[in-house]
Amino acid sequence: MKKLFAFFKRDKEISNNLDLDMSKIPKHIAIIMDGNGRWAKERNLPRALGHKAGVEAIRRIVKECNKLGVGYLTLYAFSTENWNRPLKEVDSLMKLLVEYLKNEFEELNANDVVINSIGNISKLPQICRTELNNAYEKTKNNKGLTLNLALNYGGRNEIVDAVKGIYIDLRSGKISKDEITENILSKYMYTGKIPDPDLIIRPSGELRLSNFLLWQSAYSELWFSDINWPDFHEKQLRLAISDYQKRDRRFGKVR
Ligand code: FPP
Repeated sequence: MKKLFAFFKRDKEISNNLDLDMSKIPKHIAIIMDGNGRWAKERNLPRALGHKAGVEAIRRIVKECNKLGVGYLTLYAFSTENWNRPLKEVDSLMKLLVEYLKNEFEELNANDVVINSIGNISKLPQICRTELNNAYEKTKNNKGLTLNLALNYGGRNEIVDAVKGIYIDLRSGKISKDEITENILSKYMYTGKIPDPDLIIRPSGELRLSNFLLWQSAYSELWFSDINWPDFHEKQLRLAISDYQKRDRRFGKVR
């Protein structure tokens, strides 16, 4: 509890100095969008309305990231474990995804955003897959922010899928055992063409990764906030980036 408090105290200190160094904007930001249920409960609302308010936060943060020149934004929208939630909640999340893609497509495309997904999307309802594929096909040549929606995503599952991919390519002679390196393994992840996240943000007071980007987060900077995701605004994003810019990333080396 003491440690948690220390993180939040630091948030306040940083908020007094929010000038961002535009030459040190993280290339890849990843967010665990947590706290929608608690946000709704605090207001005596159904959980679905918490997720709906979470979509508003997505809108704000995607715009801000694009404005700041962030290259990649990965949002943990539905985990492999989230199927264990009540069917009604799973349905409402799938509907929100389809609505988001339909309502936001024009604006995202006009702002040069690439709409991508990571995870095993073959298990999502057909309508979600169709909207995701359409959005990707129409935006894949855009040059702005890449919005990566992590859907039916699990970090351990991703590693298993990467190992299977390597096994297939080994068997067919496409690669040899000696060619398998950390870099090659990275290429077999769902994020194969994307750099590792520089900064991972988790709101809602929880201090864990919850099976998110396990392979890719080896040297990511972590930033936590006690605010629930629906209350996450541009200011919190800037706080996180400002804190990130003050950190000394050594990647195991010495200066
Ligand atoms: C975690 O909060 C949030 C989720 C599991 C879903 C996040 C999804 C959205 C914000 C909207 C749908 C996605 C898109 C891309 C439009 P929680 O429900 O676990 O919160 P709690 O821990 O307070 O209960």
